[in-house]
Amino acid sequence: MDRISFKIGIVFFLTILMVEGVLFYYLHSSIIHSRIDEELDSLQTRGDNHRDILETSYTAETIHHIITMESRTETHVVITDEAGKVVASSIPVDAYIQNIIEAAPADVPQSGLILEDDWQDKKYIASVSPLPENGNVFMFKNTQRVQGLIAKLNRHFWLAGILLLSSMMIITLFLSRFITKPVIKMNEATLKIRQGDYSVALPHLGNDELGELGESIQVLAQDLRHIKQQRSEFLASISHELRTPLTYIKGYADIAGKQSTSPEDRSKYLQIINEEATRLSGLVKNLFDLAKMDENTFSIQKETVELCGFLHSIQTKMLPSFHEKNIKLNLTCDRECYIEADPVRFEQIIINLLDNARKYSDEGTTTTVHAYKKRGRTHLSIEDEGKGIPIEDQAWIFDRFYRVDKSRSSSLGGSGLGLAIVKELVEAHGGQIRLKSEPGKGTIFEIIV
Ligand SMILES: Nc1ncnc2c1ncn2[C@@H]1O[C@H](COP(=O)(O)OP(=O)(O)OP(=O)(O)O)[C@@H](O)[C@H]1O
Ligand SMILES: [Mg+2]
Repeated sequence: MDRISFKIGIVFFLTILMVEGVLFYYLHSSIIHSRIDEELDSLQTRGDNHRDILETSYTAETIHHIITMESRTETHVVITDEAGKVVASSIPVDAYIQNIIEAAPADVPQSGLILEDDWQDKKYIASVSPLPENGNVFMFKNTQRVQGLIAKLNRHFWLAGILLLSSMMIITLFLSRFITKPVIKMNEATLKIRQGDYSVALPHLGNDELGELGESIQVLAQDLRHIKQQRSEFLASISHELRTPLTYIKGYADIAGKQSTSPEDRSKYLQIINEEATRLSGLVKNLFDLAKMDENTFSIQKETVELCGFLHSIQTKMLPSFHEKNIKLNLTCDRECYIEADPVRFEQIIINLLDNARKYSDEGTTTTVHAYKKRGRTHLSIEDEGKGIPIEDQAWIFDRFYRVDKSRSSSLGGSGLGLAIVKELVEAHGGQIRLKSEPGKGTIFEIIV
């Protein structure tokens, strides 16, 4: 048996035992009391009845009649005169009976008295009913019969108690098993997770808090598996991303360092080394940004930004690189559009998106930045007429190191971190980013803050 169900079972059982014990005790003593009271009452009433008959006719015949009647029942009668002497009796008057008769008070009330009620230790229970001027009518009943009656009652009580306890024991056993089963299942599942097995499959554990806990454990296990997988993929990608430029740098540095290399070639190689080193430092910077975002040490310092002027200055900054590739960069924006944002980070978002628009568009196309207010929120879209993103890639495009073109062509050699950073930054601003893209036609990234 599991420890927890054992504990719950014991607590259940002891509580029930206590409640049952107290209840049984009260029930038992009150039943016995009323039973004994009944016996005493009926004895008294019987005596009173005899007394009433004798009162109306105190004759030898009546006395004989009463004695005969009583000798056929479980009760006994003893009639005394005013001096206390026995006149007639349905049983032999022994010392014990004589004692009780003598102990009777001189002035017994009309309603009579109980003289002996100790049914447990004495031989008889006894009552007395006074006969005015003619003595007393004593009634006796053997306590053996009363004791037998009570013993029978006790036997019933024992039987009921044992039956109740054993059925309670079985119910407790099942109940505690039933209650603790989900907890035990979850414990097993978490142990498995601790050992690195994330394939936990908990059955449906109901709609209560335990059920919810079970579901949470399952979701956590899946998340954990996802994180572990992502981490190893991430590390693999980083090492890959770092190795490629480093290989170039080492290779070209080797050739450039050779005596036989001509000065023109050398300067060409040095330029490649420079480009690769620049790319490498960009990559490291991006990785550092992402690491800070993951750690949550990254803070957004929001201030009120006038969006049109802000976008205009970015446009001015980006225009030369767009012109170089013969791509138009247009800006349309609603007047008086203010947002709460961190200007440095927000600029990083837009530059990243514009950089993509430029990189993945052909010459002669147009990129449009459009800012407007809609239902109290600010929408900012960046639309290009570039090559678009295939439907099957769209779900992954914000993942780290994800690129549509898996090969690293030198002209478009991004690392695939740009959009991951953009998404983190937009979310850190409390906004959302959406993507609409049609391969061959163009792409729209829309930010809503
Ligand atoms: N405007 C776009 N048009 C077409 N494809 C795009 C566009 N923006 C992004 N992509 C695709 O999404 C991929 C991921 O973009 P992301 O900005 O994250 O990385 P990157 O541009 O390759 O590298 P980095 O931005 O880190 O220098 C790109 O490699 C490209 O395939
Ligand atoms: Mg990019």
